[in-house]
Amino acid sequence: MPSPLTPAPLGTGATRGFSAPSPGLTFVEFFAGVGLIHEAIAPLGWSCLLANDNDPRKVAAYKRNYSTPIVDCDIRDLPVEEIPTATLATASFPCIDLSQAGGRRGINGEHSGIVWSFLDHIAQLAEQGRAPQFILLENVAGLLTLHEGASIDLLLRSIADLGYAIDLVQVDARHFVPQTRNRVFIIAVRDQSMATSDQMPDMHIRRYKVQHIFQRNRDLPWVFFDFPELPTRRLELRDVLVELPEDDSRWWNEERTRYFWDHLEHDHRPKLEAMVAAGADLQLTAVRRGRRRGLREQIFNLRFDGLASCLRTPKGGSSIQFVVRVRNGEVQIRRILGSESARLQGVALKNSSPNFLIPESEQEALFAFGDAVCVPAVRWVFENSIQTVAMGLPNVSTSQLSLDLASVA
Ligand SMILES: C[S@@+](CC[C@H](N)C(=O)[O-])C[C@H]1O[C@@H](n2cnc3c(N)ncnc32)[C@H](O)[C@@H]1O
Repeated sequence: MPSPLTPAPLGTGATRGFSAPSPGLTFVEFFAGVGLIHEAIAPLGWSCLLANDNDPRKVAAYKRNYSTPIVDCDIRDLPVEEIPTATLATASFPCIDLSQAGGRRGINGEHSGIVWSFLDHIAQLAEQGRAPQFILLENVAGLLTLHEGASIDLLLRSIADLGYAIDLVQVDARHFVPQTRNRVFIIAVRDQSMATSDQMPDMHIRRYKVQHIFQRNRDLPWVFFDFPELPTRRLELRDVLVELPEDDSRWWNEERTRYFWDHLEHDHRPKLEAMVAAGADLQLTAVRRGRRRGLREQIFNLRFDGLASCLRTPKGGSSIQFVVRVRNGEVQIRRILGSESARLQGVALKNSSPNFLIPESEQEALFAFGDAVCVPAVRWVFENSIQTVAMGLPNVSTSQLSLDLASVA
């Protein structure tokens, strides 16, 4: 019997296997990208009324999977009148200015600062009496400490000023998929009567960085959702990597393989040699770091923890990942595939939605999934927070919801 975790064939599906959305549970997806927020929450009974992204390639990728209207424009040019009234608005906004690689310019940076346009839209919707009941924001964990907390403090305060009670959690995708992807979620509910004066619960998803933010901002309306312990990951790298034949042209030739060995991090080379000598049969991931210690050379770093590094958009050398296969006393190297990146984000696996259509071009697929969200991580956050409150909304049919949940369990 095939394992439920083995990858399903990609690029074939017409039916997505999602249940019919529950009447009343609607969302608008900003910064939609390839649509993985949609992928995470539609199976929980939510219906997307409108999506927005300003990258035509992402919009094309989104359209392959969803019939939701998606507006291909800068969010700043999206008139508020065109935004439907919905229960929820989501924003996995650009992380460039919040990460090390982007220079950590902060929440007012040219790219990440676009979140203010999102909040401006929410403010205008509120003025019109049609603010979403919930907001979900997602970004890199670096946001927690950026500029000694100034960015996150400002963001949380601004959301609270719009009438929302807020929660803040940090979740690494490694609990769901074999990828390190440490992310922050701001969960906001437009009901400040839910705010508590309790201490923030001390648990894995609210470790010291999150606790410090709470302590600094105790005057904000905090709401603490009752999250369970993070799950133990069931998926291994072998469940997401494709078994290419030995003679596949995507494996590097002799010359490039020698280059790899010559540029391996110095203490990784003996470890890899030992694996080969021991007759190991396994696959590892590697990244290439440039200009290390001032040298104009590239260094390959192997991971020995059975994980892939955080996927990124393949813009520079250090954002590309490689698969290193050790078998029959040989080492083969190749670039990670778009389909593997999709699976590392939790899509196109048999235990999620097997028929997710990924972009046909390899480059486009790597690009689309590099800055997408991790589906099971988002779903876990969502179903333990917003979903629990939404179940109590008067216009939600709970029997429909439990059916939807059962179908994705
Ligand atoms: C972190 S990615 C979101 C990924 C998405 N959630 C997914 O799963 O694919 C940020 C997205 O914001 C889009 N974006 C950046 N600036 C924008 C702007 N000014 N207006 C609209 N979309 C923008 C990018 O094209 C990108 O797809």
